[in-house]
Amino acid sequence: MLVRSHMVGVGAYLPAQAVSNHDLAQRVDTSDEWIVQRSGIRSRHIAAEGETTSDLAFAAAKAALENAGIPAERVDLIVLGTTTPDHTFPATAVKVQARLGITSGCAFDIQAVCSGFIYALSVADNFIRLGQAKTALVIGADTFSRILDWQDRTTCVLFGDGAGAVVLEAGEGQGELSDRGVLSTHLHSDGRQYDSLATDGGPSATRTVGSVRMNGQEVFRHAVSRLSEVAAEALAANGIDGRQLDWLVPHQANLRIIEATAKKLKLPPEKAVVTVDHHGNTSAASIPLALAEAVADGRIKRGDLLLMEAMGGGFTWGSALVRW
Ligand code: ACO
Repeated sequence: MLVRSHMVGVGAYLPAQAVSNHDLAQRVDTSDEWIVQRSGIRSRHIAAEGETTSDLAFAAAKAALENAGIPAERVDLIVLGTTTPDHTFPATAVKVQARLGITSGCAFDIQAVCSGFIYALSVADNFIRLGQAKTALVIGADTFSRILDWQDRTTCVLFGDGAGAVVLEAGEGQGELSDRGVLSTHLHSDGRQYDSLATDGGPSATRTVGSVRMNGQEVFRHAVSRLSEVAAEALAANGIDGRQLDWLVPHQANLRIIEATAKKLKLPPEKAVVTVDHHGNTSAASIPLALAEAVADGRIKRGDLLLMEAMGGGFTWGSALVRW
């Protein structure tokens, strides 16, 4: 018997305020038509004044624990993917830990931008497989609205705020494709593209937080090829074909990137869970938000085989094959 990380619950939280493309067109020189055509985004949620990443993360974590039917005190590991922590330090994860009333185990943040959830999931899975944790909360949470330049129409229309979380529990597996839980994770980075998607500030460089700057076409070009590569790597490692997947649960940056990835996997487009139209790009939160939505509406059922993949600033990218 092998130790496997069973995914036993999922939860999500979106700020109350939804902002449409038409709303944005009142603030910057853009249009609903341009945004929908280039990205597939129609609206996004934006955190209220004073509402922080830890507020979003806490709400998603609480929902995931309720969904799993697991008391918070059983959690001995919290890994939180975020690019927009409440403060430069301490980690936002420890704030969430305290609000959940957990006083043992460990909690820390991971910074891999839009790949943050996949990185956090991989780290938590490895903790569980090695026996260093038994019950983990894996959270992706971001308030990108706080680091956007609202005068820059090339970036401010693409992002939204939100949080999603899953609960992992140590369980058993046979090392087979039929096992429940996380079957594989693959992580990659290549720092040569550091400047293609970055903030123009940071505590050590400028003592400021900075705003998002992006070379959109460069990101797009790399995203399509890196995501196809990492999807192929996950399939090969598990000896399967894309057609055996029940669902693609991708990072939600751009509808064109999602459709291109599904096509390369020979999956019909309706087998890709799409939330980018009403969430925008919520960075580390996008995959667990998409998972939560498709589980809640009954599309994803227990036993389904899911491929999750993401790419983000760094560049970082990665995948997770999961039997829900
Ligand atoms: N509204 C109207 N016009 C705009 C806007 C806007 N919001 N933004 C840019 N434009 C204009 C440009 O100024 C340009 O005008 P010009 O031709 O007169 O110079 C024109 O639209 C075309 O601009 P491009 O940058 O060439 O547009 P492109 O087709 O590349 O689309 C986009 C831009 C949507 C950013 C695309 O490159 C993309 O999706 N890239 C991937 C970026 C991404 O997904 N980032 C998320 C983070 S990384 C990740 O999660 C994978």
